[in-house]
Amino acid sequence: MCGIVGYIGTKKACPILLVGLSRLEYRGYDSAGISTIEKDGLSLVKDKGRVKVLESNQEIEKLDGTIGIAHTRWATHGKPSKENSHPHQDNSKTFSVVHNGIIENYHELRNMLEQNGYNFLSQTDTEVIPNLIHYYFTKNQDSSVHGFLQAVRDCCLSLKGSFALEIISKLFPENMIVVRKDSPLVIGTCEDEKYISSDIPAILSYTRDFYLLNDLEFALLKNTEAKFYDTDLNEIDKRTSSIEWTATASEKNGYDDFMLKEIYEQPTAIRETLGAKISLNSKCNFDELKFTKEYLSNIEKIYIIACGTAMHAGLAGKNVIEKLCRIPVEVDIASEFRYRDPIINEKTLSIFISQSGETADTIAALKLAKASGSKTLAISNVIGSSITREADYSIYTHAGPEIAVASTKAYTSQVVLLNMLAVYFSEILENQPLDVINKIKQEMLDLPKKITKTFKCKNEIKAFAKKIYQEKDVFFLGRGIDETVAKEGSLKLKEISYIHSESYAAGELKHGSIALIENGVTVISVLMDKALIEKSISNIQEVISRGAKTLVVTSHDCDENMFDKVIKVPDTITYLSPIIAIIPLQLLAYYISKEKGLDVDKPRNLAKSVTVE
Ligand code: G6P
Repeated sequence: MCGIVGYIGTKKACPILLVGLSRLEYRGYDSAGISTIEKDGLSLVKDKGRVKVLESNQEIEKLDGTIGIAHTRWATHGKPSKENSHPHQDNSKTFSVVHNGIIENYHELRNMLEQNGYNFLSQTDTEVIPNLIHYYFTKNQDSSVHGFLQAVRDCCLSLKGSFALEIISKLFPENMIVVRKDSPLVIGTCEDEKYISSDIPAILSYTRDFYLLNDLEFALLKNTEAKFYDTDLNEIDKRTSSIEWTATASEKNGYDDFMLKEIYEQPTAIRETLGAKISLNSKCNFDELKFTKEYLSNIEKIYIIACGTAMHAGLAGKNVIEKLCRIPVEVDIASEFRYRDPIINEKTLSIFISQSGETADTIAALKLAKASGSKTLAISNVIGSSITREADYSIYTHAGPEIAVASTKAYTSQVVLLNMLAVYFSEILENQPLDVINKIKQEMLDLPKKITKTFKCKNEIKAFAKKIYQEKDVFFLGRGIDETVAKEGSLKLKEISYIHSESYAAGELKHGSIALIENGVTVISVLMDKALIEKSISNIQEVISRGAKTLVVTSHDCDENMFDKVIKVPDTITYLSPIIAIIPLQLLAYYISKEKGLDVDKPRNLAKSVTVE
């Protein structure tokens, strides 16, 4: 969480930093700040509140410097306040620092620094960093730029936890140092400018060429130069990676909100993710994966590990992988998996799903699986993201930048990619008849068109949203793969409408939770799996007879009089049904949030990329 941005070039840094911050606000938005190198030293302007508050600060207009760092915060240590906002400086105001991540040993470091005469103005973990840099810089007695680098290196080696840092100093008015460990940071490069950011979309309008830093690699930047060092401060060679995303992909393009735009981008996202990998006449082509029949035949278990929406995609993936490949799949939440001493060995394949590729718990779970002998496969939407650099193999969803905090197009792209992976495994295992495989492929290829048809339910959903937006509790039901959609639909509603909601396996409701159903409660059911539809309808009858209002999402014919509202969606095979069935539920959450006048793209308390554990 928290967004950091930096600029070093020939133009005034401040306006560029403000634009960058506003694009990174989805990562945190309780306070914001800027520090630039001015003729008379380091400037520092920061305050509680959104980037707009910072923009209207009169001090901002006075900033002329061409080098600067900036931060938008999601509070971890210390409440949102001016003092706790970043950038932070050392006592002598020689160094300014912005930080994304958490310093776990900051108490111990703070005590050590206090004993050495340093004072602290904030409750943050970050404030130890500029003071520690100052401490080492003075101690090492090397006032050259190499001494600056060495002090930053010494500081970083003392830190436990995660950090992406940008550091500037009034003593080195042409330089900036950036470093990361377990927190995201990219460096965009042009001839005489460098742009630093927590994510690629925030700076895509300036460049498509990026340096990607590995953990504890230090970049010493000038406007015309980028030098990289390892922890022994040996210079290392680094090439740029070119990013395909276009700058307009990160704009709203006429939509009121990013979330709505991203919902409507799903046909394209699926088409791009399928790419040239799926065709009826040849085997599924994942050149980047090197799985053999021998390896896959010996796999005893597949883990799918992720957080939030990505975990819900994993649940849909479990269904298709188990059915096609007959390998048991366990889906786990990354933060749970790590601490439950999971049984992992070389006969386990571990798949990690993360839109951002930067979720701290997912990265830690990946490291654990790898260290225990499992092969690791990352699924991410961001080329070069941390999980893809840690994993043995990586494959990508090609959903384009997802800006809204609530994930939509990344989810459906992940579900389709997991289906593609299941087909790829099955083709290697040679365990399914050609017509079964071809049917799945054909249905995948038909998805963009079917999603577009599904959008026709928009007005019905909007009208239903108007009816229920003041509800306090909403229930979602489903059986089998439909339950995975119910889970995701419920999460979408909670995230952006702040309505309490729960999802249940339809058959489980009567074992306790049905006690919560009373007159007028809304129950939303997903009925896509034809084999289970009768059973699910019986469960809906149970809630109707207790007074529930019911909305049903289905592709099958059913007695519409039985329910308050039926949303008919196009039919597809069960494995792919979450991709169709989630669309009305995404739209429902969106329109309820709009009806309540909430900030759809930046819901309270949430951040898109959770880089703390
Ligand atoms: C946060 C976001 C969710 C997202 C989850 C996992 O909680 O608010 O929308 O699903 O992180 O993110 P990832 O980038 O790992 O998919």
